[in-house]
Amino acid sequence: MAKPNIDIKPASGKLGILLPGMGAVATTFIAGVEAVRRGIAKPIGSMTQMGTIRLGKRTDARVPMIKDFLPLANLDEIEFAGWDIYDDNCYDAAKKAGVLETQLLDSVRDFLEGIRPMSAVFDQKYVKKLDGPNVKKGANWWELAEQLKADIKNFQKEKNIDRMVMIWCGSTEVYIEPGPAHQTMKAFEEGLKSNDPAITPSMVYAYAALSMGIPFANGAPNLSADIPALDALAREMSAPICGKDFKTGQTLMKTIIAPGLKARQLGLNGWFSTNILGNRDGEVLDDPESFKTKEVSKLSVLDSILQPDLYPDLYGNFYHKVRINYYPPRGDNKEGWDNIDIFGWLGYKMQIKIDFLCRDSILAAPICLDLALLLDLAKRTNLSGIQ
Ligand SMILES: NC(=O)c1ccc[n+]([C@@H]2O[C@H](COP(=O)([O-])OP(=O)(O)OC[C@H]3O[C@@H](n4cnc5c(N)ncnc54)[C@H](O)[C@@H]3O)[C@@H](O)[C@H]2O)c1
Repeated sequence: MAKPNIDIKPASGKLGILLPGMGAVATTFIAGVEAVRRGIAKPIGSMTQMGTIRLGKRTDARVPMIKDFLPLANLDEIEFAGWDIYDDNCYDAAKKAGVLETQLLDSVRDFLEGIRPMSAVFDQKYVKKLDGPNVKKGANWWELAEQLKADIKNFQKEKNIDRMVMIWCGSTEVYIEPGPAHQTMKAFEEGLKSNDPAITPSMVYAYAALSMGIPFANGAPNLSADIPALDALAREMSAPICGKDFKTGQTLMKTIIAPGLKARQLGLNGWFSTNILGNRDGEVLDDPESFKTKEVSKLSVLDSILQPDLYPDLYGNFYHKVRINYYPPRGDNKEGWDNIDIFGWLGYKMQIKIDFLCRDSILAAPICLDLALLLDLAKRTNLSGIQ
């Protein structure tokens, strides 16, 4: 069989994973990777680690593991660094996040204690519910971006890193509409220098990474790199970008159920979703401006899956509502209820009820790993811009 003409550089040397925001998701991710490396646990939920790929015909029975088939970075070659407004090391931050049990955390404690967040680019204007001491000072966004680039270069030198990727694991910022400062690189860089309020901290991180050719993924629903200026920069610097919220809990259910309804051509009258969660993410989302960012991203999921324009009889007029309620006793163990009003043959009505008792960060951590490994692969395959 002829080989496809794709030139993929080998995954030689170390891969550095840069994490702005070292809270529940980031620490669950880091602790998990180290636990897997030490043989303490399995990387459940990670497509790159657990998944297989079918080659040729079904009857050929050629089904290798994805990680054996693709030239992905090896977990042993990964190093972590990140930033947070709190200066707790990753062990203390993971304890506070309350996702993983003490026994597991203690088994990788030495490793986690060795990772301490660098000082963050932060402004409370964009995450109203948080305030922390570990924050950089600078005259404008431009200077702060330069400081981030210096952090990245130091990490690279200190740990002898070959390649890097950045995954935003920071909080959901307030809702921002794309505006003039986001349209071109020239306008964006002027905005960095004039401290344009339409530029948010997550954009400053994305800019720092992309201007160094480092791939960027966004785990939050923030605008971040999702603007023409940074898309252009990503292409110019040959950096792949991806992501808009991890979509792990209730939205995971939506992305599982909705394609099934559509495949059976069953109609939808309404989808009401409500959640309780009590972690720091829940607290941040208790602010209406951060919630709006999340809400817009969550609402868009059903439209993009169900394509009401193509199926007006089935999906032309459904009511979709999402609520998130901050409820501290639950911590990271979210509960999400969905009431789905559907209709079938001759318009007859039916209902689906879902009660998903999930663990948000347990679902998000393997996605972080897959995003990091696949963005690194994309970069080595010379892909750039939105993936
Ligand atoms: N938990 C999940 O499974 C899940 C699912 C989908 C999306 N998300 C999104 O992922 C993000 C992280 O979620 P989490 O549960 O880890 O939240 P978290 O609150 O535990 O962690 C976020 C961390 O980001 C830090 N932070 C905020 N702004 C920062 C900045 N400018 N620079 C550096 N650090 C900053 C906060 O101090 C906090 O420690 C959130 O935006 C959340 O909405 C999470």
